[in-house]
Amino acid sequence: AEWECTVEAPVNIALVKYWGKRDSELILPYNDSVSLTLDEEKLGTRTTVRYSASYEEDSLVLNGKPTVISSRLSNVIEEIRRAFRKQAVRIKMNAQDLMSMSRYRFRIETNNKMPTAAGLASSASGMACITFALCTALGITESVDMSELARLGSGSACRSIHGGLVQWEAGKEEDGSDSLAKQIYPASTWPELKFIVLVVDGEKKKVGSTEGMQRSMATSEYMLLRPKQCKDRIQEVCWAFQAKLFPALAEVIIKDSNTLHAICRDSYPPVNYLTRTSEALIDFVHRLNEALGDVCVAYTFDAGPNCFVIFEEKHESLLMWLLLHTFIENDVIDPTIHRQPKWDDD
Ligand code: DP6
Repeated sequence: AEWECTVEAPVNIALVKYWGKRDSELILPYNDSVSLTLDEEKLGTRTTVRYSASYEEDSLVLNGKPTVISSRLSNVIEEIRRAFRKQAVRIKMNAQDLMSMSRYRFRIETNNKMPTAAGLASSASGMACITFALCTALGITESVDMSELARLGSGSACRSIHGGLVQWEAGKEEDGSDSLAKQIYPASTWPELKFIVLVVDGEKKKVGSTEGMQRSMATSEYMLLRPKQCKDRIQEVCWAFQAKLFPALAEVIIKDSNTLHAICRDSYPPVNYLTRTSEALIDFVHRLNEALGDVCVAYTFDAGPNCFVIFEEKHESLLMWLLLHTFIENDVIDPTIHRQPKWDDD
């Protein structure tokens, strides 16, 4: 017999960034972070899992190409198998069924809706999606914390398990059991928030975030400020989000993005993820806010040159028009508008 299930998972955009690990095997972060989850219509990942006892081994097809299962993904799969066995014991499944189920192997087929590894959070939605697909296939979505499992695949993936404003706590435990992502407020708190993703360069980035953060941890003294700074900023983000105060929210988002990139520049050898176009977009947003007399637009950049623009719906047409005339004609491609998901978990 063979079974199959298909699910989708969204991208999340960090407003206060995760950068640096306290444990790189279990992927435990050095600081707390907070993000907003996007709808999965145009960005995100779709995964189909087939499983059967007749398959010889686990296999992965990523964006149409057979791909070796990384050690991180194999950690995720093994943890999910363990959770499945635990549930089977708990519900007193008979020994024979348990034996045949332990022979299940997975065929994972996963497709990103955007360029992989271009700083567009594809690892986040990708690992979240595979976790979600495997847990759904095995019927354990309610008996595990999927954020803990997705985290083993890629840190930022744990935040894509929930919608709305999501916080990932660094935690203190050595086994990572308290390093989970939780929803702080649902998407419905502020449905007018919108996002434009500007793909500045869809190429694979030179220094991956895993390596970049390792370098920062080892060499940048600015990192020492992060744990407390992030806690303070997250508090501000939560307060601004709940009260729907855009200028207050925007200021923290902008500052934290710039802190991340200052840390990257301060690392040794230095890392620069931003291009001239990214810099021009930063100037554009500040000039626009100044002209409007209020902070109506925010930007944030992850470990790549692509720009996430955040604003309220009422500014959408003005912003789109300006972007179209200043950037899209030149070197920025593919402006897509995104909202928060319509679903509201928790
Ligand atoms: C800049 O989650 O890709 O996007 O845990 O090593 O897989 P690993 O790193 P990853 O790092 C994301 C860093 C960031 C900030 C963020 O998403 O919080």
